[in-house]
Amino acid sequence: MAQEATYHCPLCQDRGIVASGEVARLCGCRRERVLFQLRRQAGLPPAMHGATFERFDLRYYSRARRDHDSGLTYYELASRTLAAAREFVRGYLKDPHVDGLYLTGPVGSGKTFLACCVANALLNEGREVLFLTVPDWLDRIRATFDAQNQTTEQELTDAAREAPVLILDDLGVHNYTEWTINKLYSILNYRLNHLLPTIITTNISLEDLSEYLGERTTSRLFAACRACRLLVDVDIRIRQRQEKELRARQEAPG
Ligand SMILES: Nc1ncnc2c1ncn2[C@@H]1O[C@H](COP(=O)(O)OP(=O)(O)O)[C@@H](O)[C@H]1O
Ligand SMILES: [Mg+2]
Ligand SMILES: [Zn+2]
Repeated sequence: MAQEATYHCPLCQDRGIVASGEVARLCGCRRERVLFQLRRQAGLPPAMHGATFERFDLRYYSRARRDHDSGLTYYELASRTLAAAREFVRGYLKDPHVDGLYLTGPVGSGKTFLACCVANALLNEGREVLFLTVPDWLDRIRATFDAQNQTTEQELTDAAREAPVLILDDLGVHNYTEWTINKLYSILNYRLNHLLPTIITTNISLEDLSEYLGERTTSRLFAACRACRLLVDVDIRIRQRQEKELRARQEAPG
């Protein structure tokens, strides 16, 4: 029996995507559901769901203090790093094989925040991102060695290898065992060979990294990532707390 084609969504004919010029876009009918799924899979910390480039505040970075290496003020450095992060998103949307970012800086300088600004910008464009906090992720892998655990090491590793954009947050100074070093190498090597960009946040400079992760991994990262830096004189968390307390005092009656 011949059936007339009827669609829930005449705009995309239920395919979920519509052509707009040269690029295919998610249709509104599918967008909300897909974005919800993508956000859940991405695994960003809940506190970072609101991290956006618009909220990345440059006033935390001193216009007086200077970075010894580059001679730039902290403010200039942060402006450059912010621009590099925005450029990463723009570049990625044009061609997913862009260079990644290697974000260094002390604790509370906005590294995780900025990486999450990138993640949210991509998620809002319907792109897949995977956010992993390195120490937690290594713990999860170790937990798979427990026979009771349903998730396998292979599944966790494959997810990190194959994510279109991977954020490795907090690649810090841990006790890297031979096993961990090999694990990280195999992931980064795979990603570089497949031109999949990685964003790394860490307090170890790219120059010092080989001390912890060895030559092999470090040279892979040198090749695959643009190094960016954020410097602050005071942890931004502390600054924000002080501002909050000050506001509370000013608003208090009497
Ligand atoms: N440039 C910024 N503008 C606004 N808030 C920021 C900025 N950088 C960091 N924060 C806030 O400060 C806190 C610490 O930042 P975070 O990115 O976690 O630091 P890091 O990863 O460098 O240790 C977070 O709660 C974040 O929301
Ligand atoms: Mg961090
Ligand atoms: Zn539709």
